[in-house]
Amino acid sequence: MAIEIIGTGKAVPPKRVSNNDLSAQIDTTDEWIRSHTGIGNRHIADENTACSDLAVEAAKNALAMAAGYTGADIAERNRAASEIAGSIDMIILATATPDFYGTPSTACIVQNKIGARNAAAMDVTAGCTGFVYGLETAAGLLSIRQERKRALVIGSEILTKVTDWNDRGTCVLFGDGAGAVILEKTGADGKRGILRSLIYADGSGNSSLIMRRGGSRNPYKKGETMTEPIYIEMNGQEVYNFAVKAVTDTIDALMKAEDIKIDDIARIIPHQANARIVQAAARRLRIPLERFYLNIEEYANTSAASIPLALDEMNRNGLLKKGDLLLTVGFGGGLTYGGNIIIW
Ligand code: COA
Repeated sequence: MAIEIIGTGKAVPPKRVSNNDLSAQIDTTDEWIRSHTGIGNRHIADENTACSDLAVEAAKNALAMAAGYTGADIAERNRAASEIAGSIDMIILATATPDFYGTPSTACIVQNKIGARNAAAMDVTAGCTGFVYGLETAAGLLSIRQERKRALVIGSEILTKVTDWNDRGTCVLFGDGAGAVILEKTGADGKRGILRSLIYADGSGNSSLIMRRGGSRNPYKKGETMTEPIYIEMNGQEVYNFAVKAVTDTIDALMKAEDIKIDDIARIIPHQANARIVQAAARRLRIPLERFYLNIEEYANTSAASIPLALDEMNRNGLLKKGDLLLTVGFGGGLTYGGNIIIW
């Protein structure tokens, strides 16, 4: 048995905001943002777009590819996607920015919108590691029941709606987007698909990246005036130090677990939070930087969406060959981290 990726998709809002656009509104510069993070642009959702809207677009693109359609005609894409939506057994959606807090899950909203009537649906909350966790969750659930064949795993985020636009230390970092994959259980035992996943957490760092208001710890109370929207607070340096170690340790552990050498790896797809984090980890591991796929310049940090978004971009641009050994590596709020080894 193998768990293979048979379709990928992405969605980004059309509005593209450059560093120079931001510097017209807040005290920052293109030079500072690029030199400290590698970010050049981000895509920002309009007022009417929520997490499920981007998730549905990415899911339809992935479903259509799994059904054999990769063209640009939206009506054709929708027809192809709806052809196989009924064959999806589960939807796992990773997000820190759901349509609604608590209930319903955004996965259930997506299930309804794409017509995946036979799919179980739930969200995964694991910060920017959400997609890595989601793949392992879906692979596990597919493995333990013979009758389950296909899963849709999505990472989708609207981070710009929970960003403190008065804090230049965080607001320049985030963007909106979604990525999705279709997993299928096949007979390609050990030759293709997800070979292994490692998922970890260090809850002692739970306050390093946190949305403090709105939950049961700190709800808005009757009569209280809400002066500011709910937003992400981050201790940048703490997260930076954690992230470099998380990327280094995860890649090292994945390679050891499957007895893989650096030369065996075709590409590493890291969570796109900061190019400097990737550069530091690459130096420590003595892995050439070109082996890491980076698209942070265009999309900034899209949290749980960043890895599947990159995967789809690579796939559609012909950068992935059958048999390629890929490593994903994620880290983020929780604190969480982990990675997957995939044979394409
Ligand atoms: N534009 C211009 N200057 C800025 C700025 C901005 N957008 N943001 C911060 N600065 C300034 C600070 O005010 C500070 O100025 P000072 O020295 O006069 O006080 C200076 O730049 C250095 O700030 P510092 O916070 O020490 O910068 P840094 O080198 O640590 O970089 C981050 C900040 C956020 C880029 C870095 O800490 C980081 O990438 N952390 C990890 C973030 C992350 O990956 N989060 C998501 C995890 S999933």
